[in-house]
Amino acid sequence: LKVLSVASEAVPLVKTGGLADVAGALPAALAPHDVAMTTLLPGYPAVVKAIGKAKLVHKWPSLLGKPARLLSGTIGEHGLLVLDCPSYFARDGGPYGDSKGQDWADNWQRFAAFGRAAADIASGATKAGKFDLVHAHDWQAAMTLAYLKLASDTPDLPSVMTIHNMAFQGHFDAKIFPRLGLPSSAWSIDGVENYGGVGFLKAGMQMADIITTVSPSYAAEIRQPEFGMGLEGLVATRGNRVRGILNGIDPQVWNPAEDSEIPANYSHRTLAKRKTNKRALEKAFGLEESDGPLFTVVSRLTWQKGMDVLLEVLDHLVGIGGRLALLGSGDKAMEAGLHEAAARHPGRIGLHIGYDEGLSHRLQAGADAILVPSRFEPCGLTQLYGLAYGCVPVVARTGGLADTVIDANPAALASGVATGIQFDGVHYHALRAAIDRAMALYNQPKQWRRLQQNGMKADFSWEASGRAYADLYKELTLK
Ligand code: ADP
Ligand code: GLC
Repeated sequence: LKVLSVASEAVPLVKTGGLADVAGALPAALAPHDVAMTTLLPGYPAVVKAIGKAKLVHKWPSLLGKPARLLSGTIGEHGLLVLDCPSYFARDGGPYGDSKGQDWADNWQRFAAFGRAAADIASGATKAGKFDLVHAHDWQAAMTLAYLKLASDTPDLPSVMTIHNMAFQGHFDAKIFPRLGLPSSAWSIDGVENYGGVGFLKAGMQMADIITTVSPSYAAEIRQPEFGMGLEGLVATRGNRVRGILNGIDPQVWNPAEDSEIPANYSHRTLAKRKTNKRALEKAFGLEESDGPLFTVVSRLTWQKGMDVLLEVLDHLVGIGGRLALLGSGDKAMEAGLHEAAARHPGRIGLHIGYDEGLSHRLQAGADAILVPSRFEPCGLTQLYGLAYGCVPVVARTGGLADTVIDANPAALASGVATGIQFDGVHYHALRAAIDRAMALYNQPKQWRRLQQNGMKADFSWEASGRAYADLYKELTLK
């Protein structure tokens, strides 16, 4: 089965968040199930550089107004296609905005062009080969399905739309519609129209044969306005065509026994070695050396991630003897608040504002607990890395966090299955109580070790999820 996976980021080439981890891991997760997955990425400078000697397989004289080329190469052992269009993608800054974090004003055009190209490729109109199915990720890839269904020779090609985050919908002003190159009939509630504008994610959800979310709980949650964010009605209409498949983690990248980014490797049998990693973190973050609990956060600093509530609770965390090492970047006011908290608590709160892949591994390998107070979380990966690394997750009971952590309530502790702590409602009192529970458990070393070991033994590899995607592809192509 040949599948074209369309994504705006994928490790190891370009990453701003979990989407990249997932898009990067899928080809290997599907290979054992007879699925050959080729990934299409935009030709950002880093991607074009990494592809090196590539084959030119197609030229578009005009892709929504700009000339573009399609390059073919490999990413590891898997197929990689790159949309080389310097006017859209050869820019300094991030994939979606400039270095100050301001979104590019022509994002609609950049990602409509990306979708137009993907639809051409999927429908076999280029020399990149034939595909049995197309799988689009998030709003940046969603227009693929609109062009495929409404403006291509193969409107019946099976398709999957994966929502990694409903909060990012790619919603644009109605005035862009005539420039998309779609038939005028596409301007309708059954097409790309969305609340009077053009909705990219909406269009993808409308056209896809199957919609998936990255956890089962999130698939249920987006039926409600709070999580559906305006698209809950469409989700309801699509009925059982909306399903949840949990993300996995890539054991080649996230395995404390073999991780080359961390000072001391260890397994669930040699947890004592984590101490070396903890000491290294204390140095790196300017923290006092102590055997008391070291909390960590590795996160985008946003409202979604509950970082405002984290700020409120820091004085308490330090007051009861905790310390925090945080890695993250995002909202400037939150960054400022963190700097103030660190200044109030020298030696107890250490920050690294920025993005650092290696450091994210060292934090999971040396901190005792990772805090994930998200208001919503389609899947969440940092709690999964925490589980794999014996860094006990303390999470809000929502989305994928609810699906992957087993709360240390008395029953779960008694039966020995707990892996972390969950709390309800992202507000000061709930997070504070969760931190108190973590502290109490940390002070019972046997219980704590059990939590760590249970997490490390839990299986969140791609094994099961790879099979679930493969089964879905087969279901859709056998019709
Ligand atoms: P989201 O995609 O919503 O940001 P996830 O938990 O799914 O949340 O994925 C976040 C990914 O980005 C994880 O791989 C996490 O380790 C990584 N990450 C987040 N912030 C940073 C940072 N400042 N430095 C390094 N890695 C980070
Ligand atoms: C999104 C979500 C996150 C999920 C990731 C990968 O960024 O916010 O919860 O883990 O996509 O699917």
